[in-house]
Amino acid sequence: MGLYQRVALPLLNRLDPETSHGLTLRLLATLQRTPLALAAIAWAASFQDERLAFEWRGLSFRNPVGVAAGVDKNGRGPRFLNAIGAGFVEVGTVTPLPQAGNPRPRVFRLPEDEAMVNRLGFPNEGTARLAQRLKGARRPGTPLGVNIGKNASTPLDNAAEDYVACLDALYPLADFFVVNVSSPNTEGLTSLQGREALAGLAESLVSRCRELAENDGMPIKPLLVKVSPDLSPAEMDDVVGVCLGQGIEGIVAVNTSIDSTLRSVASAQLRGGLSGRPLHRRAVETIGYLRQLVPDDFFLVGVGGVFDAGDAWALLQAGANAVQMYTGLVYRGPGVIGSINRGLVERLEQAGLTGIADAAGRA
Ligand SMILES: Cc1cc2nc3c(=O)[nH]c(=O)nc-3n(C[C@H](O)[C@H](O)[C@H](O)COP(=O)(O)O)c2cc1C
Repeated sequence: MGLYQRVALPLLNRLDPETSHGLTLRLLATLQRTPLALAAIAWAASFQDERLAFEWRGLSFRNPVGVAAGVDKNGRGPRFLNAIGAGFVEVGTVTPLPQAGNPRPRVFRLPEDEAMVNRLGFPNEGTARLAQRLKGARRPGTPLGVNIGKNASTPLDNAAEDYVACLDALYPLADFFVVNVSSPNTEGLTSLQGREALAGLAESLVSRCRELAENDGMPIKPLLVKVSPDLSPAEMDDVVGVCLGQGIEGIVAVNTSIDSTLRSVASAQLRGGLSGRPLHRRAVETIGYLRQLVPDDFFLVGVGGVFDAGDAWALLQAGANAVQMYTGLVYRGPGVIGSINRGLVERLEQAGLTGIADAAGRA
């Protein structure tokens, strides 16, 4: 058990989970203003090996272990997350206007299950504030994504306007965008995964991306869709059909779950989306299912219950190009990304593979 689990986690566990998360973010925002501190963290925590590096759509990833949406909703700490060795960082979910989210308490830790339940409802400071923070935040080898959503007050029929507004405000500042239609905590949001609704949304977003890229004279940036773990195979088929038909270039699978069959006694009564260990098998199955339906160059990000190298390896073998983590970071601390990457190199060696791109689809 590392220092984080022995010392920091028990202290943080005494606080309300959201308060401790806020404190941690404030601390890391302070640390990342000090180049020496950042360099020391990078030296202690990050692990580099060229066998983990890969390219996709002109983006260079130094490793396949990323930070999931929600960890850094307001773009406070991408340089810190880079320093702890993340292969890529997804900030957000951001909405066009700042909003407070649902009433507290709205984040719950279930340490016995290595799980969390949250019903945050996208509290965030809005696109304008995020744009200010993201200026100069991108780092070589660590692509930066922005996860975009809609304000709670925007009617579902006008949702596309909110997502487009997010692109308009942030287009030059990110390397890729993730369309969040799968959070269970904004009323009606998951219905945007339905075939017609998603087709309309994807069409608006892809065409706006083309316009923005043309205006800036730069290549079009990839758009990914983030899906729920609670979709049936037929619903998943619809999502894939729309993505392939409309020019969406990847899927992030999965968001938090409201499926009661994944709950323990402790989490059964908590309203909100479940994350962490109980989600892992569903995430692996979803990635495996999706990989059979999409072409090789379609980017799949596996997320759900990644705590160690074995969990990350399972998602990569099922067909993910990369993985992300949120709950595992909370329970294992910032050193976990480096240790997962170290473990992935060991697995590559054991499997006789020369690079991480060869791991995909070997389940
Ligand atoms: C407290 C909390 C907040 C989250 N906020 C977001 C969010 O704003 N947008 C999003 O797409 N996913 C969000 N997620 C979902 C995670 O990005 C991830 O998809 C999910 O938690 C499964 O990964 P994990 O098991 O590693 O946590 C959040 C998860 C947690 C636990």
